Amino acid sequence: MVESIITFRNVTKKYKDTVILENINFELKKGRFYTLLGPSGCGKTTTLSLIAGFTDESSGDILMNGQKINHIPANKRKINTVFQDYALFPHLNVFDNIAFGLKIKKKSKNEINEKVTEALKMVRLPGFGDREISEMSGGQKQRVAIARALVNEPEVLLLDEPLSALDMKLRKEMQYELRELQKRLGITFIFVTHDQEEALAMSDEIFVMNHGEIIQRGTPTAIYDEPLNKFVADFIGESNIIEGTMIADGKVKFVGKTFECVDGGMNANELIEVVLRPEDIEVTESQKGKVVGTVISQLFRGVHYEIVCTDIDGNEWKIRSTKKVEVGASVGLNFEPEAIHIMRANESEAEFYQRLEKYQGS
Ligand SMILES: Nc1ncnc2c1ncn2[C@@H]1O[C@H](COP(=O)(O)OP(=O)(O)OP(=O)(O)O)[C@@H](O)[C@H]1O
Ligand SMILES: [Mg+2]
Repeated sequence: MVESIITFRNVTKKYKDTVILENINFELKKGRFYTLLGPSGCGKTTTLSLIAGFTDESSGDILMNGQKINHIPANKRKINTVFQDYALFPHLNVFDNIAFGLKIKKKSKNEINEKVTEALKMVRLPGFGDREISEMSGGQKQRVAIARALVNEPEVLLLDEPLSALDMKLRKEMQYELRELQKRLGITFIFVTHDQEEALAMSDEIFVMNHGEIIQRGTPTAIYDEPLNKFVADFIGESNIIEGTMIADGKVKFVGKTFECVDGGMNANELIEVVLRPEDIEVTESQKGKVVGTVISQLFRGVHYEIVCTDIDGNEWKIRSTKKVEVGASVGLNFEPEAIHIMRANESEAEFYQRLEKYQGS
């Protein structure tokens, strides 16, 4: 079993009387890549600050390697942080920026030289030590910031939206590099982003947050394929959400028809919502479709067409298709039983995963 490294037990954070994080519980395992994903103001940075020790919890316990660290100051935790704005020292060159922490710790010149050279190699900037910070590009500065954190050999690296200042192409490259670096070093990374694609591409596990709570946690595929509720379904990828009724286990009714599905464990005739991902819907001739829709728009997106249809109940259906259709045409929409995801109102994360396990054996 992989050991846990950071544990939150009933952690609450308040500023004055305002609750910022409410009763957060989690256990992070060593050597994994975690992502906190959620909209602005949901409490991602606050969670990192609590782990780093930059701010105190109002109640609850924070553990590292099984030991309570509530009262351990930030500089005594083997945790380093990479910030969005790099926070490099502009008056120091690249080498001295990276060496800063080691100098404070009074390491020998030789050791500092060795470690900084090694860190520069790790972030693919060998030989850049003498450069001034002002001579570095955005992506290079971010690598210096990462090297400066890694040189302290942290057990946990916190990264607060480290890539958001970079352009798309560089950002994708850095996503790949960060992920490779994490695998190579085997350090636990806790990465913050509000970009769902980035979270899906990089993480072992994602924590979806909203209003100071963890709404759902799971692997990227689990969260994408089985969103717990509307918030998660909307936040992670695009989805069609349609009201329906659960007739029985494996049988769901929506747009006036009953369909086979793979979910169960609800009450008979319970009102539920159905999630269907745009890429899980196939466009066909109208008489061959499970649902018939009228095409109201079509956009070419490079690799696929983004089609919007309405059904007879007036629901809008977004579809991602490689086939072209005619606006105004009547088309058939098909989907597999596995593509139908059912969401119950007010189901907790624990109840949701118990039910899934029972009905899908996952
Ligand atoms: N020092 C503080 N005093 C009072 N309120 C604070 C303080 N720091 C953060 N907050 C509030 O706590 C909430 C969560 O803030 P936090 O910075 O954790 O959000 P975030 O998820 O990181 O958002 P973003 O994506 O915009 O960075 C916000 O409502 C914010 O206004
Ligand atoms: Mg933040």
